[in-house]
Amino acid sequence: MKQIPLAGLVFAVFLPFAAPAASANLDAQVNDLLAKMTLEEKIGQMVQADMKALNGHVSDIQKYNLGSMLSGASSDPSPDNTAGSWLNAVGTYQSWALKTRLKIPLLYGIDAVHGHNNVAGAVIFPHNIGLGATHDPKLVEQAAHVTALETAGTGIRWAFAPCVAVAQNERWGRTYESFSDSTRLVSEMGAAAILGLQGKELNSHSVLACAKHFIGDGGTLNGIDEGDAICDEATLRKLYLPPFRAAIRAGVGSIMVSYSSWNGKKMSGNRYLLTDVLKGELGFRGFLVSDYAAIDQISPDYKRDVETSVNAGLDMVMIPHGPGHTNNYVEFITDLEQLVAGGRVPQSRIDDAVRRILRVKFQLGLFENPRTDPALTAAIGSPEHRAVARRCVRESLVLLKNENHVLPLSRHIEHLAVVGGAADDLGMQCGGWTISWQGGHGDVTSGGTTILAAIRQAVLPETQVAFSPDGNHLRDPDAVIVVVAEPPYAEMKGDRTHLVLSAEDSALIAKAKSSAAPVVTILLSGRPLVLNSALEDSSAFVAAWLPGTEGLGVTDVLFGDYKFVGKLPRRWPRNDNLSSVNADASAPIQFARGFGLTD
Ligand code: BGC
Repeated sequence: MKQIPLAGLVFAVFLPFAAPAASANLDAQVNDLLAKMTLEEKIGQMVQADMKALNGHVSDIQKYNLGSMLSGASSDPSPDNTAGSWLNAVGTYQSWALKTRLKIPLLYGIDAVHGHNNVAGAVIFPHNIGLGATHDPKLVEQAAHVTALETAGTGIRWAFAPCVAVAQNERWGRTYESFSDSTRLVSEMGAAAILGLQGKELNSHSVLACAKHFIGDGGTLNGIDEGDAICDEATLRKLYLPPFRAAIRAGVGSIMVSYSSWNGKKMSGNRYLLTDVLKGELGFRGFLVSDYAAIDQISPDYKRDVETSVNAGLDMVMIPHGPGHTNNYVEFITDLEQLVAGGRVPQSRIDDAVRRILRVKFQLGLFENPRTDPALTAAIGSPEHRAVARRCVRESLVLLKNENHVLPLSRHIEHLAVVGGAADDLGMQCGGWTISWQGGHGDVTSGGTTILAAIRQAVLPETQVAFSPDGNHLRDPDAVIVVVAEPPYAEMKGDRTHLVLSAEDSALIAKAKSSAAPVVTILLSGRPLVLNSALEDSSAFVAAWLPGTEGLGVTDVLFGDYKFVGKLPRRWPRNDNLSSVNADASAPIQFARGFGLTD
């Protein structure tokens, strides 16, 4: 065991890796290996197959020389998702890769987007919108480093994070994956997250970061997921390119290409932006991975999609399906072999793609030691890691209203009522991308603290805390804390046409108000919601975003141990007549970006 001091924290970490290859040697090593590879072996490196696709076909890793695998949204190794089951599964896949002629290790990727969120008991951080509210890149770096340690603890060395979308329209169901509607803030936070995941350079301690989704994912018309960003090139460059420039400067080793289109053309096939701009003009030396089955959307003809996307500059293709489905990895391999043989995809393009992938694998030290020591799993969900997340939570809370200085609440309060089922629902606190793709309700993971549990821990033993999910039977409380929430959602399913706080939640707040005690409302949401009467009916109002597992971060501030420091990372609309994109400055706002009371 070795102690790695990091930004004020000390993490006990087992370091199983050898020293990184000297950079002077890197290109020689890559070229040397490339020279030994057959076309089949090269094309195998360009495939990223989903865990589910390999169900029953695990030996295909060896047979087709697969270079990468992922666990998409709901691809889990076991129903209980323990760290051990992840470690075992990834270790098994790796051992198949090491049976190949050239023993090129597998690079495994996962959506560790707010902590290592697929693993039971891992610490869950606030989603990016909350991290944006902290306006604290150092903290974001620290959070991402914890995510890296927990991810590596399951043998996984690649996180599909950070999302550097500059979400322009709150209707988009991925708004919470975006740090801000400000290009500058997204650039800063994205770069910080990359530093936290990878370190100052890619090496044997890094978890490979993946800036996503290139480009314009957050700028689609009406906030439609996977939709069309309709704008001129100057706007595209001004609003959405800087976070990628910052990511490249921070050394990001991979970039995921967006499902979305730019002016009607799918990004997965956009050679100008992928090759000329990203790799040429911006000098990106890592590799480009497609989104999940994204190339399939280019046209109805899969072989044509393979040709278009690889020629456009995609280096690795994410493929959810295996034999028995259309557009599976065997089909991809066969199609690409034929396209190269027929001269439709140049050999030089294949070599460039594989060179980029191998380079990253060497940098990560995978060849020296492709397996991670299970000792790293011991730190998953540790108190030290949770302390970082708790700090993120308390610094992400934005105080929107505080009439008569109702907050902070006194610990000496006699009767405290807590209203709303969301107060005791870890799943609602964590939101989407938590254990399952769309997230869920209740105890979705182990080891977290709900807001209700945190309140019970925070108050004095003599304080009576009455929990009323429906707001009934409030008996003369001294204060009421109401927790309202958007139900969990993620991409595709989270798009909304209207963004008003639900009638049920508004009614709950109104009911709490009728108790005549001061009402402190905490909103758990992945985006600003139009509040109407809810704001007037509350004495104090806190935007808590999707804070994750550490509910104590909320009570740290509610009871005055820490001050409110969070500031809105994006505008808060006043009514539901949202413009198609935020760039429309005339849209009426309730609170401007940067707003946040301190007491
Ligand atoms: C999402 C990506 C994600 C990928 C793998 C896609 O649907 O757009 O953000 O990384 O799935 O799960």
